[in-house]
Amino acid sequence: MRTVIVNCAQLITLAGPAGPRTGQSMRDLGIIADGALLIEDGRIIQVGTRREIEPLIAAQDSVVDAGRRVVMPGFVDAHTHPVFAGNRAAEFEQRIEGASYAELAAGGGGIRSTVRKTRAASEDQLLDDARRYIQWFHAGGTTTIEAKSGYGLTLDDECKILRVIGRMECIRCVPTFLGAHEIPDEYRGRPSDYADLIIHEMLPIVSKSRDREGAVVKSNPGHHTSEQLAKFCDVFCEPGIFSIEESRRVLTAARALGLGLRMHADQLSDSGGAALAAELHAATADHLEHTSARGILALQSAGVQPVLLPGSVYALGSSRYPNAREMIQAGLAVVLATDFNPGSSPTPSMPMILSLACTQMRMTPAEAMTAATINAAYSLGRGNEIGSLETGKQADFVIHDCRDYREIAYFFGVPSVEAVFIAGRPVWSRLKQ
Ligand code: NIG
Ligand code: FE
Repeated sequence: MRTVIVNCAQLITLAGPAGPRTGQSMRDLGIIADGALLIEDGRIIQVGTRREIEPLIAAQDSVVDAGRRVVMPGFVDAHTHPVFAGNRAAEFEQRIEGASYAELAAGGGGIRSTVRKTRAASEDQLLDDARRYIQWFHAGGTTTIEAKSGYGLTLDDECKILRVIGRMECIRCVPTFLGAHEIPDEYRGRPSDYADLIIHEMLPIVSKSRDREGAVVKSNPGHHTSEQLAKFCDVFCEPGIFSIEESRRVLTAARALGLGLRMHADQLSDSGGAALAAELHAATADHLEHTSARGILALQSAGVQPVLLPGSVYALGSSRYPNAREMIQAGLAVVLATDFNPGSSPTPSMPMILSLACTQMRMTPAEAMTAATINAAYSLGRGNEIGSLETGKQADFVIHDCRDYREIAYFFGVPSVEAVFIAGRPVWSRLKQ
């Protein structure tokens, strides 16, 4: 089955050499004016101008007319927390009245309040909510998300969340185990005991495979329906949550079980999180609002990708954005993501993140596009499959209602997405909403 996309005012291919983009190459989007795409069985088989592609169209091919709009790879949102019960609109109001995020957390609110609600919710209830959020991701032009657990904090509740992530349809999902997101109520004051529970009881299970029904497959690793519950392990490394030492223990154990590593690092203070990510050669260090020049250098020498989350800075009412310019200057392959969660960053919108990256962190629109697509794909180990529109890759693309890609970051708060395709198939369209 073949599909052809024609009449793209700009086809933003992000084509380039294999590997994440750094420095000046973050500004090269491989734009084809009046571009077209030829797709077969969900993969791209030709990319070019209309003039190059039109002669290849056969009578039985289905043709999608992009209407002289921008066509680009779907956003790859490399940091989200999309499975949680309830929301924290009441805390949002308390923060506006003066309470800080850290104060609310210390008082039993924050992440722990979402944990209590998520523990009480069934797998199906959580999936219902997650399906609603998937629609929101589509509406912002996202086709792949990295999805973290972290609102269960018991073996059963973390597995429940990871099973929900495994059941999320119509969007590509890369699952991350974030059992080390907070110290749960029953382990208050005993973070090291809780780290032991993660290491000895949770990690051995979440790093194994499960079948389609969610049961852990222990004896048959070649079982064709099985997948790992998690591909990555993440830790909220912050004084008062998980110390450097506890974070190191959890991440080292995860690595030994074959999981990739990601870290919430230096979000609220410069506590050596970036240096630990570098020491462990983590795939990513995320947040980095307080990272020093030394930390940036350490990330650069270890090849760790920074994942910047300006939505959380904005929503917490802070003005301390991570130093994206210094990171790009240092040659880091910067990634942008939403950090979608009910506390610090209640947005699934990548166009909003692009707007913040440009206006608050002085990334150019082109750098922001690269950070939100191909660089994000590489940070998830999927750079050879998604993140750009090139021959052989998955046909995950989005039609935006504009003529110039810069409008996506420039017109903020305006819905620009017209239609979303994953593996060549339409999954969302503005007209059908
Ligand atoms: O990335 N920092 C820790 N985790 C999330 C916040 C989660 C929440 O507040 O529920 C973050 O900002
Ligand atoms: Fe986060």
